[in-house]
Amino acid sequence: MATIKNKRIESILSEALGILKPSDEEIMTTTTFSNQIMERLRIEAPKDVDIIMAGSVSRGTQIRGSSDIDIFMLFPKTSNSKSMEDKGMRIAKRIVDKKRGEYYKIKYAEHPYLQLISKNPPIKADIVPAFKIKDSYERGSSVDRTQLHNVFVMENFTKKQCDDVRLLKGFLKFHSIYGAEAKIEGFSGYLSELLIYNYGSFMNTLSSISKLKLPISIDPKSRSILSAEKNIYFKSDFVILDPTDENRNVAAAVSKEALSKFILISRRFLKNPSIDFFYGNEYSDNNSKSRLNALRTKYGFDMYNITFEVFNISEEILWQQSKKMTKQLEDILQKNSFNPIISLIDIKGGSGIISIFLNKYELNSVVRQGPDVFIENASDSFMEKNQLVFIKGYKIMSLKHTEFNTPMNLMRGILKSNALTIPSYIKKKSIHISLNKISESNAKLIYRRYIELTKI
Ligand code: CTP
Ligand code: MG
Repeated sequence: MATIKNKRIESILSEALGILKPSDEEIMTTTTFSNQIMERLRIEAPKDVDIIMAGSVSRGTQIRGSSDIDIFMLFPKTSNSKSMEDKGMRIAKRIVDKKRGEYYKIKYAEHPYLQLISKNPPIKADIVPAFKIKDSYERGSSVDRTQLHNVFVMENFTKKQCDDVRLLKGFLKFHSIYGAEAKIEGFSGYLSELLIYNYGSFMNTLSSISKLKLPISIDPKSRSILSAEKNIYFKSDFVILDPTDENRNVAAAVSKEALSKFILISRRFLKNPSIDFFYGNEYSDNNSKSRLNALRTKYGFDMYNITFEVFNISEEILWQQSKKMTKQLEDILQKNSFNPIISLIDIKGGSGIISIFLNKYELNSVVRQGPDVFIENASDSFMEKNQLVFIKGYKIMSLKHTEFNTPMNLMRGILKSNALTIPSYIKKKSIHISLNKISESNAKLIYRRYIELTKI
């Protein structure tokens, strides 16, 4: 019985790998292109600067269609980081060949880097200036670690494990939890690699994750579980140590939701393995607006759409700020007796949208929780300020008429009164709130986010 199931799993995984592994042609094109870029950099850069390829393409852990390349210019640690970066960026800019239709964008991680965009072949190359180091204690910034990650993966992974990384990345990506960026708050490429190394294989990773209990601290280098002190040190329940730097938790960006989803989909796959966990027909986003409306009718909720414009700044910061504002809105709604059900966010082309699903509300008054009876001053003043007061447990409560009788009145009210702190890169004057009205283009974004959230 078990062997039949194992055979089935084997064939599913090999089918999945067939989809996830880049074709020979893709590998050829990327290799040729990155060699070309590296050659150009070598010509321009001083002799003591090493030009290396890093990231998943160099390690053989990339998945099909996402062969963007990461090229590092490693400078000897003689200058300070600012002058190293300046030098690196100047060199990188010089090798962008406009005649071939190439152009670049300056991007920022912890430090600036240049993204070269080529149309033919259609590849993006991140060119990152960093210091050449042998050990993490020498590092200036976190980008310096990448070269050490490369060594670790290239020295320690078998070919089968590289393929297992691809399976894991595909599995996570299909469920919208691949990537450490603020939009996803999921599992980065390097974290996927470390999970495979620690558990040995894709299947072992899934069975261990399916039984995961928190808190946990894992040291992939020794494949062991560490004491809870590490959780305290990193202030996190889920710690995966970086084998190249014991002061870094590689899982720091993983949200509770992403980890929970990973656990659930692992269990589901083990119980009922199928290729559907890796790919499927793209859902149709035609008529997203009517699909959202149908959903609203079925469950009877209202959809509040907050649209706004954003400044031209890194996506990462915009996502962090939009999430922060959403959290603030949810908290204020909650405090005023409205319970947000689901909130969805997207940002595209200079504007953003937050959709909050709420039950239909029309309130006359709200219950407010006051202080403990034991706190004399606070309870005296609460009693003076409020009229209809009563006791629940040791707390004084009040029932108060509210001018914010609907979520709309509340949200408009706090916007006007500045009770909502608008993050710096969201254009305050552009904020607009509407009830159940949404443009088809925004509906497409929100419906996609809804599908991503609920596909478990
Ligand atoms: N890196 C990291 N932590 C991050 C992002 C990047 O440590 N949050 C380092 C890793 O060494 C990573 C490298 O920078 O391998 C390149 O980053 P990226 O291209 O984002 O990831 P890849 O591992 O190349 O994975 P992918 O296949 O998704 O490109
Ligand atoms: Mg990469």
